Amino acid sequence: MRRLVVGNWKMNRTVPEAAAFVGSLLPLLSPAADREIAIAPPFTALAAVAPLLKGGALLLAAQDLFWEDEGPYTGEVSGVMLQEVGVSYVLVAHSERRHHLEETDRIAGLKVRAALRTGLKPILCVGEDEAERAAGRAHAVVRAQIARGLEGSVPAEAPRLQIAYEPVWAIGTGRAATPAQAAEMHDVIRRELRGVLKEGAPAVRVLYGGSVTPDNVDELMRAPGIDGLLVGGASLHADQFARIASYR
Ligand code: PGA
Repeated sequence: MRRLVVGNWKMNRTVPEAAAFVGSLLPLLSPAADREIAIAPPFTALAAVAPLLKGGALLLAAQDLFWEDEGPYTGEVSGVMLQEVGVSYVLVAHSERRHHLEETDRIAGLKVRAALRTGLKPILCVGEDEAERAAGRAHAVVRAQIARGLEGSVPAEAPRLQIAYEPVWAIGTGRAATPAQAAEMHDVIRRELRGVLKEGAPAVRVLYGGSVTPDNVDELMRAPGIDGLLVGGASLHADQFARIASYR
């Protein structure tokens, strides 16, 4: 299975800034057959950045999509529109959207369906918060997020599905999960995937996200069951993101 490293820019970068960043990042990347590298700029920069990603060394991801393809949904962007501008991957239900916009597992499920229907590859984000972990509920929370987020998915869709395990307490805090904590949850996720997607489960990539840096990336990527990374803060620095993408 090819690994996947995605840089989530969140609500950062104007169009000229995004273009300049891609210009500085591309020469730092060393293409490798065993991994894919993607960036997720804000919606406004997608169309401008797409033609700069020549040769496929860098793929384009979006940070969200709506669950209908067109219609009276003010402010929303559909999978059809993202596909048209060259997007391959799309984040679904990032914890910041779950928190600030009250996105639910039901919404996540609709968005996963929409992404698959429109030819995109969804990255369903899951993860427990600090209180849930302290209460011993981390496994149950993550399993429920997966079961509901993948409702209606069938084994044949598995090669296009990604799960990103991002413990909320690790996002933007500088407190990454230890490789052992990540590996333990990835194992739980893999077992839940077996229940939901049966024989398709091994084809799903399970990424880790939360305070990934050049200093912890190699260790995290050596942990069992980690098929890639979702990188926030460090993806805004070309040298750091390039180093992360060339984990060893
Ligand atoms: P971080 O963010 O790397 O800044 O912790 C990860 C994410 O939110 O995807």
